[in-house]
Amino acid sequence: MELTIQKTQNPKQKPQDETKLGFGQIFTDHMFVMDYDEGQGWHDARIVPYGPLDLTPACMCLHYSQEVFEGLKAYRGVDGKIKLFRPDENFKRMNNSCDRISMPKYDEEFALYALKELLKIDQDWVPHTEGASLYIRPFIIGTEDALGAHTSTSYKFIIIMSPSGAYYPGGLNPVKIYVETNYVRAVIGGTGAAKTGGNYAASMKAQDEAAAQGYNQVLWLDGVERKYIEEVGAMNVFFVIGDEIVTPKLRGSILPGITRKSTIELLRSKGYNVSERLLSVDEVLEANKNGSLKEMFGTGTAAVISPVGELKIGDTICTINNNEIGPISQMLYDTLTGIQWGKIEGPEGWSVNIDD
Ligand code: PLP
Ligand code: COI
Repeated sequence: MELTIQKTQNPKQKPQDETKLGFGQIFTDHMFVMDYDEGQGWHDARIVPYGPLDLTPACMCLHYSQEVFEGLKAYRGVDGKIKLFRPDENFKRMNNSCDRISMPKYDEEFALYALKELLKIDQDWVPHTEGASLYIRPFIIGTEDALGAHTSTSYKFIIIMSPSGAYYPGGLNPVKIYVETNYVRAVIGGTGAAKTGGNYAASMKAQDEAAAQGYNQVLWLDGVERKYIEEVGAMNVFFVIGDEIVTPKLRGSILPGITRKSTIELLRSKGYNVSERLLSVDEVLEANKNGSLKEMFGTGTAAVISPVGELKIGDTICTINNNEIGPISQMLYDTLTGIQWGKIEGPEGWSVNIDD
């Protein structure tokens, strides 16, 4: 498919102080847009100036949430080249998300090509400051102008980009997590494994209640027994218990994180004992009591590796590793960001230069 390019006549001023970017608040000069219509497939791929979309009030995604999204980052490497981290995994996962909520799939290779072209145009927006990067948000919305609750017959695939700093205001400092026992996020057979807006809408109330108590995010439990640990609002979770590193196994209710997968692969390649299994809250409580819970951390594109220093479970508050970053979390943070910024050679295909 052909990709047309229309450059802006009014480039915006780039952020002056890259240490104060926050997360996802400023957007670059251009975006990618591609349309889908039933019978025609994907068409009109274009890079255009960043700006408002022309949608009608009956636009289906506004009513029935047929929407999927992804999150990945571009890094200004130590060699000066702009790099992506495993972008093929994001485009594969977004197609899986499309499949789950009955949206049309797209050509993953073309999407990656379009993203690289968009990055070449907006490359000056990739931050130069250590720790800051360009957060990339591909998403697809159902755009049919109709109110019947059925699968949309038209869609827009869009990519926008935002220079961003740390997701949590405290940076690498340990976060405080609230174990949610009242609300649930997903159940097996539901949409938990898809990256679709509805999962996040379902999470907001619990998130707000936890924030009101001073917690950064909630830790979700399984939706049936409310016993097994699933994931945090924007991260997968790992626990170092004795000499085992445990992460909840993928059963269809949690997001198969790309940072999770990379973390497991890195740890195993370094000889650590990693288990993907059921892990109950009771087991974590017991491990904390008997001193075998050494570290807990979250993994995610926005969150990178985020140590967890405090976990609130009912009336019990667990302090983990003296509320400090532990050695395994630190090693993973250094290795992962080292690969992302091109300081360390990672496994084949993990770091992709945009002009390769
Ligand atoms: N779980 C949820 C609910 C998320 O939103 C994210 C962020 O994308 C993750 C886990 C981590 O996934 P990834 O490592 O692919 O960014
Ligand atoms: C990401 O890490 O890319 C995410 O999607 C987190 C997001 C919900 C802010």
